[in-house]
Amino acid sequence: KKEKTLALIKPDAVSKLGTIVIALRENDIQVCKAKMVQFSRKDAALFYEEHQSKPFFNSLIDFMTSGPVVAMEIMGTNVTKKWRELLGPTSTAEARSTAPNSIRAMFGSDDTRNAAHGSDSADSAARELEFFFPSRARCELANTA
Ligand code: CMP
Repeated sequence: KKEKTLALIKPDAVSKLGTIVIALRENDIQVCKAKMVQFSRKDAALFYEEHQSKPFFNSLIDFMTSGPVVAMEIMGTNVTKKWRELLGPTSTAEARSTAPNSIRAMFGSDDTRNAAHGSDSADSAARELEFFFPSRARCELANTA
């Protein structure tokens, strides 16, 4: 089933954006929207509110606000699952041992600095897309071709 999800390129992998977009195309995933933004600490904390009580929360917010991120609305068949497969496991070390060609294996550096994020379910995809691409935005051009 064709669906949409959020692909979030983290500060450590923004310079790899071209390579990541090529990988999306090779996997029949379309980029519908993209925007580069600098997270404030408040917005990063809101985006990751489910992790508030985790021991890594503060370092995650430090990292996510260390430079711009690129948010993309991507579309394709089972794209939520497919993008997470392209990402590989959250931990870079695990990604390197179990999925050496994954984005996190190639571009991540540790458990926190792991190159990119993908929504983990259809519900979080809807919430996370709304976060970056609010449906009530006053002016917006979307690529639906
Ligand atoms: P992400 O998919 O963006 O979702 C939550 C993020 O928290 C995760 O990627 C990592 O950047 C970070 N994270 C998750 N687990 C850990 C961990 N055990 N130690 C440090 N950071 C983590």
